[in-house]
Amino acid sequence: MEIKRAKISAVGHYLPEDRMTNFDLEKLVETNDEWIRTRTGIVERRILKDPEKATSYMAVEASKEALETAGVSPKEIDFIIVATVTPDYMFPATACLVQEKLGAKNAFAYDISAACSGFIYALTTGATMVESGRAKKVLVIGGDKMSSILDYSDRTTCIIFGDGCGAVLLEESEDGEGIIDSIHYTEGDVNNSLYQPAGGSIRPASQETVDMRMHSIRQDGRAVFKKATTAMADVSAEMMEKHNLTADDVSWLVPHQANLRIIDATANRMGLDPEKVMVNIDRYGNTTAGTIPLCLYDWKDQLKKGDKLILTAFGGGFTWGAIYLTWGI
Ligand code: UT7
Repeated sequence: MEIKRAKISAVGHYLPEDRMTNFDLEKLVETNDEWIRTRTGIVERRILKDPEKATSYMAVEASKEALETAGVSPKEIDFIIVATVTPDYMFPATACLVQEKLGAKNAFAYDISAACSGFIYALTTGATMVESGRAKKVLVIGGDKMSSILDYSDRTTCIIFGDGCGAVLLEESEDGEGIIDSIHYTEGDVNNSLYQPAGGSIRPASQETVDMRMHSIRQDGRAVFKKATTAMADVSAEMMEKHNLTADDVSWLVPHQANLRIIDATANRMGLDPEKVMVNIDRYGNTTAGTIPLCLYDWKDQLKKGDKLILTAFGGGFTWGAIYLTWGI
């Protein structure tokens, strides 16, 4: 069977207009701008304030931009995958809502839950569908309305996250550029180092779960930091080794934006100069599944056909991995 290669043919994004700065957070919790900047690299993040709008809204806006850029009609899409941990509802999948709102009548659609690694997991799934011939045009969307699951009295989590979404269109490659390889790992987080305690079937919503703020993220920051730093650096180095790539060969590192110190450690391990590393954590914070496509969007005008990119992420689960692709636009 002939294996087709999938390539990213367009990128779209959505960022809410409202900005929450570190100084705004100083008014909510005992923190300060200097601590947040030096410990995380974050200066401000976007917040989707409209209570009527959720992840599907951002996903639809990002998708529309990608489709318009590519000149592709929603009816041509045959698969939609949304990576998110902040779906509009527990079910149906946010991807189903996106399918309906976009008018993508010919697409089947579902979500992937892999936290901050969600986008790279979804990209692998989307690419595999194209490679197998099962789908020709796929929307891969990563986005989260993190403000909906944050406890704005917990300074260890509320300063990190923001809202945002990115979408890429995947199509069959005709020029050989595209997604070359993926490496993914999972290690069940038995200690619940990063999770949302309630709202699932083990602890359905009750007065107690609401009173105890158990519908918000809980994170053991130090434990996750340690694991994320090693995991992202190791898997990126593994990908370089597997494909005999030197630091000079790699055009861009597209890292998940969780903490500037994790990004720096990954780039150092790969031997990459800082100018080859996409960083926008200062402007958007950690948008969970949104970080990588938002980087691709922000850098799209600097990317050249044939550029070699390594995407890497680590997230709740634990989940992590890396994708090696060449830019095809
Ligand atoms: O994206 C998915 C995966 N998530 C991540 O990759 C996040 C990984 N973790 C991190 O990025 C970092 O661990 C944090 C940014 C969450 C925290 O940074 P840290 O350097 O690991 O801080 P820490 O938890 O070790 O805390 C150091 C000190 C503590 O005070 P003491 O015990 O030394 O007196 C904290 O209480 O900083 C204190 N602290 C704060 N101070 C001011 C914790 N949060 C804050 C805050 N403002 N917001």
